Amino acid sequence: MAIRTEEKESVATSKPLFKYREARPVGVRIVNLNKSFGDNHVLRDLNLEILPGETLVILGKSGSGKSVLLRHIVGLEKPDSGKILINGEDINEARSKRKYVIAMVFQSSALFNSLTVEENVALYLREHGIVKDEDAIKKIVGSVLSVVGLEGKEKVMPSELSGGMKKRVAIARALAMNPDLILFDEPTAELDPMMTRTIGDVIKNLRRHFEVTQVVVTHDVDLAFYIADRIAVLSDGKIVEVGTPEEVRKSENPVVKGFINTRFE
Ligand SMILES: Nc1ncnc2c1ncn2[C@@H]1O[C@H](COP(=O)(O)OP(=O)(O)OP(=O)(O)O)[C@@H](O)[C@H]1O
Ligand SMILES: [Mg+2]
Repeated sequence: MAIRTEEKESVATSKPLFKYREARPVGVRIVNLNKSFGDNHVLRDLNLEILPGETLVILGKSGSGKSVLLRHIVGLEKPDSGKILINGEDINEARSKRKYVIAMVFQSSALFNSLTVEENVALYLREHGIVKDEDAIKKIVGSVLSVVGLEGKEKVMPSELSGGMKKRVAIARALAMNPDLILFDEPTAELDPMMTRTIGDVIKNLRRHFEVTQVVVTHDVDLAFYIADRIAVLSDGKIVEVGTPEEVRKSENPVVKGFINTRFE
């Protein structure tokens, strides 16, 4: 079996990103958010504040509504009641001006299999005619691929990549948008501990070197403590605890304690 040595390459950290816009990390405020599907009341008066430039991790068990919450923030889902404010502006108000860029890294990576890595990463910039100069697109793609440790992989097809590499391409595609907010839905699901660590390092490095707000949804407690500025715990449709990793570790809330401690059983 061929060994994928590429996965062991270190992740570039401090190279300047070639970009088409200046990102300005946004703040997000979620106020009394309610969402039901039929009888299933998934989000129940949920309140949460995400600060500009922080990495906030949302921890919650499977089926607790993490993906539903992310879909609301990105605007793919409309609330039954409540609000999502980005930089103080309700995203569902008709007159919302939306002067920000949001990128989402989907759990499945969601790459287009018929397109090369380069075409996948550049898709948003080309489709929306955001960058017309092909040389500039090449530079952007090259620089975001190097951020995730995949330099020189432009011509490779997704089918030739491992799951972890696909995840990194998906992250590179998000970075190419030069977003003000990146949402990661289970970025390490189905990955081995080494690749989980690599993705964790990528997210930590983004936090250090990029002007961006990051929201990471996961049920991986170790990853949460590794990357988070703050952790929010979602249970029964509500955020039941929010704080720094230290604060959450000391939480007396039985739900939080149970969730954190199950990994030692
Ligand atoms: N489009 C939908 N239609 C009906 N029910 C839905 C829909 N999307 C989500 N749900 C329900 O909402 C609940 C929360 O789902 P969600 O996908 O947000 O969970 P999650 O916390 O992301 O779980 P996981 O960790 O397994 O990804 C589940 O009960 C799910 O069945
Ligand atoms: Mg989910």
